[in-house]
Amino acid sequence: MEVLVTGGAGYIGSHVCVELLNSGCEVIVVDNFANSKPEALKRVQEITGKYLKFYEADILDKLALEKIFSENNIEAVIHFAGFKAVGESIKIPILYYNNNITGTLVLCEVMKMYNVKKLVFSSSATVYGMPKRVPISEHFPLSATNPYGRTKLMIEEILQDIYASDKQWSVAILRYFNPIGAHESGRIGEDPRGIPNNLMPFITQVAMGKREKLSIFGSNYATHDGTGVRDYIHVVDIAKGHLKALEKIMKTRGIETYNLGTGVGYSVLDLVKNFEKATNKKIPYVISEPRLGDIAECYANPIKAKTILNWSAEKNIQDMCIDAWRFQVNNPEGY
Ligand code: NAD
Ligand code: UD1
Repeated sequence: MEVLVTGGAGYIGSHVCVELLNSGCEVIVVDNFANSKPEALKRVQEITGKYLKFYEADILDKLALEKIFSENNIEAVIHFAGFKAVGESIKIPILYYNNNITGTLVLCEVMKMYNVKKLVFSSSATVYGMPKRVPISEHFPLSATNPYGRTKLMIEEILQDIYASDKQWSVAILRYFNPIGAHESGRIGEDPRGIPNNLMPFITQVAMGKREKLSIFGSNYATHDGTGVRDYIHVVDIAKGHLKALEKIMKTRGIETYNLGTGVGYSVLDLVKNFEKATNKKIPYVISEPRLGDIAECYANPIKAKTILNWSAEKNIQDMCIDAWRFQVNNPEGY
């Protein structure tokens, strides 16, 4: 089966490409390298020993997408291409709305033109806004607190409308919790630009000595140790979830949403301690002011993905720390 992966050179996309190639799929990637490097795709092929077809193009470029669909026999699309930094989305919302929403519209338009109606979409736990309780199930109320989150929410609604208009579509919306870690080969992983916004890449850079210390954003949350609790999930588990979702949409029609999380919450301090234990590295930290818009606790009820997709996370927090660290050590300057 030929699968088009938009944003396949990115952090999650590259791990999904590995799993797809290993499962025998033919993979076609479209990426404009806005936030990634061609090296990631070279390494995907090196890890799997398999060939991947690649187009350097922007998904906003309709003609380029038409060319990709006309030159291949694409049966399904896994759609990662988009911007994802919350702070940046507040500063440059027009760019975020255009890239994420228009990009998805152009993609869906071309998919429809070529009668390809199987889609897996990367959504985020951010669509639960400020959840009233945890664990979070798919039917919980949705809201967004920033432009990035709103793009995810709007795209989810757009996909619902597309399905409502044409019942031939089969769409899986995957709401990721907090993907961390890297492929166990240490060849592909997260390669953030500049100062990392997210916790794990910041920790690995502190451990490397690239940054002096971690700032823990708030210690007075209503959690077991006062620091924020999240559902960290290994990126390879996330990647495997995409294969299960793909299997499902190939056999069915409809639109379904799934949480991809472990169901277990760890605090910032828990993650720091686990990282120190896994790597024997000390992580100096200070407590600083809470980050605007952060919530105390966020973790998934992952039962729907388990029941319907037969997927659940297999790797534990130590695996996540060891693998994130291996990628950082092997690639001190990223790709
Ligand atoms: P990433 O930035 O590493 O990957 C996104 C990829 O899309 C990059 O390779 C980038 O160059 C490409 N891209 C962006 N705009 C494009 C365009 N217009 N045309 C072609 N390519 C384009 O991000 P990621 O962490 O791999 O995330 C993938 C998806 O999952 C994103 O949609 C993100 O919003 C979503 N998501 C990520 C997380 C997370 O924590 N990483 C959590 C929830 C949801
Ligand atoms: C972030 C995004 C969210 C996205 C999610 C998964 C923001 C505001 N939210 O959420 O939209 O869906 O990633 O990719 O960026 N922390 C520190 N110090 C740091 C960094 C983080 O203490 O230097 C804390 C945070 O306060 C939080 C936890 O670590 O409690 C995790 O933070 P982060 O990795 O940024 O993920 P989220 O806040 O869940």
